[in-house]
Amino acid sequence: MPDPQSVLAERVHSALVTAFGPDLTGTDPVVRPSQFADYQSNVALPLAKRLRRAPREVAAAIVGGLDVRAECESVEISGPGFINFTLRDSWVAEQTRSLLGDPRLGVPAAAHPQNIPIDYSAPNVAKEMHVGHLRTTVVGDALARTLDFLGHRVIRQNHIGDWGTPFGMLIEHLLEAGEDSAEAEKLRTDPNAFYKAARAKFDADPDFAGRARRRVVALQGGDPETLRHWHELIELSKSYFNRVYRTLGVTLTDDDLAGESTYNRWLAEICAELEDAGIARISEGALCVFLDEFTGREGKPVPLIVRKSDGGYTYGTTDLATVRYRVQELKADRIVYVIGAPQGLHLQMVFATARKAGWLPDTVEPVHVQIGNVLGTDGKILRSRSGESMRLMTLVDEAVRRAGEVVATTRPELDDATRAHIAEQVGIGAVKYADLSVSHDTEYVFDFDRMLALTGNTGPYLQYAVARIRSIFRRGGIDPSAVRGPIAIGEPAERALALHLLGLGAVLEQVGELLEPHRLCAYLYELASAFTTFYDQCPVLRAPDAAVRDSRLALTQVTLDALVLGLSLLGVSAPEQM
Ligand code: ARG
Repeated sequence: MPDPQSVLAERVHSALVTAFGPDLTGTDPVVRPSQFADYQSNVALPLAKRLRRAPREVAAAIVGGLDVRAECESVEISGPGFINFTLRDSWVAEQTRSLLGDPRLGVPAAAHPQNIPIDYSAPNVAKEMHVGHLRTTVVGDALARTLDFLGHRVIRQNHIGDWGTPFGMLIEHLLEAGEDSAEAEKLRTDPNAFYKAARAKFDADPDFAGRARRRVVALQGGDPETLRHWHELIELSKSYFNRVYRTLGVTLTDDDLAGESTYNRWLAEICAELEDAGIARISEGALCVFLDEFTGREGKPVPLIVRKSDGGYTYGTTDLATVRYRVQELKADRIVYVIGAPQGLHLQMVFATARKAGWLPDTVEPVHVQIGNVLGTDGKILRSRSGESMRLMTLVDEAVRRAGEVVATTRPELDDATRAHIAEQVGIGAVKYADLSVSHDTEYVFDFDRMLALTGNTGPYLQYAVARIRSIFRRGGIDPSAVRGPIAIGEPAERALALHLLGLGAVLEQVGELLEPHRLCAYLYELASAFTTFYDQCPVLRAPDAAVRDSRLALTQVTLDALVLGLSLLGVSAPEQM
């Protein structure tokens, strides 16, 4: 494990246990990168309070039992009792070299792999995916990829909206149009148009509306003919979702579909169990769960409705079923819901109800990864000119078009196909990275100019860093797999770059724990910046001698690998050239 933070944390931990006894096992040694040294631990301060001793004395006792001779040039106590670590150049160099050719780049697999169902994307059938779905899809996919890489058992759950009363009208419309008609084809290409046509008929034609209502009853009653049409509708919609996923480079496939309808068979049972246990009761004809901790205006309890007065089940009932299924069948240790922030209350009520019903034991952690709204440059929820929520593919196409314009001026010598390929990688990368680089629960403004900028914390900036490094190897005629080092640290920029490279594992561990991909973005941005400084100050191909050149090539190679790995965990492509 070359990550200095974990190495030092482990040593400080064992030193403090040796100094103060086994009671302190499990104490966080609080080792962090520092501006005063390479790393600092301030564990002596909280520990001093607990032990009723002077902090500097506690620090001295820890340092006294610390064996970091191989790793550290110096260990010093400063201020009130901070422990400052300065790593040996030779150790940093050797650890960095050990990353060469290592596909995991020194990142250890999780010590305790978890089963993690992750619910993300979840578009609705016969509806266009909008920017809100884009963000849950992109953030969810980055989390799934990262948790997977960290060695967890990730179970992707695409909770598509494939059930409910609109399906009566949608099925009737599909039947009238014909399953092979141009209208049906719209489900694959322009689902909103299909939905709107069905809706218009429903509103205008009472006969149609009556048929639609009877169709809902038939669907719920499991009528085989109706189910067949429903399946057809789902199939057509799936091909739309899959096209979007393919275009965006999202890992979801049909195998990950677990839509709302999956849970139908358990809904009656869920209601019965809640009612029998006295957790739910009838109020104004509806079956409701009242939880003390959820009150609205004037302290009035807000109910979670699980069965409406007409007998229909709700979004809440289905989500209770998702919790139960993911705990009991998927054996979840942690359940991740990547869903819009406005659904926070809904999920909290679902989790609380599930806990009360005994479906969610304390050993399982449910997490709502809240996704903030995407705003237009006017600061309001992003909408199209006609006031509807923005079509996702319109945005993506526009980003690719704009990236294409840039490539046409910067790389006129390339053939059309190559330029188009770069434009696609950059345009899509820019949109995805913009979603990922801000913390997932904040709102952000969708701004083409900013996300496509070649400077700052953007997708294109990182992609350009990758393309530039690749061109160094091309220009030098160097086979990257033949780069061996060794690495020797001379210049400060070399040291800073190497140290940063060794920090990847710590960052990924954080992303896996806190479920915050923007931390990986920040890391990659700093890495690309550290590389830029290094490349400005330390000639690589024209290094003063062969040994320095080999060392710098090795640093360059590990940087490339780290950028490519990081981008792949974010689901952003790493272009060969730009
Ligand atoms: N289909 C819902 C929507 O478009 C999102 C579903 C999220 N997942 C869940 N288990 N509730 O808003």
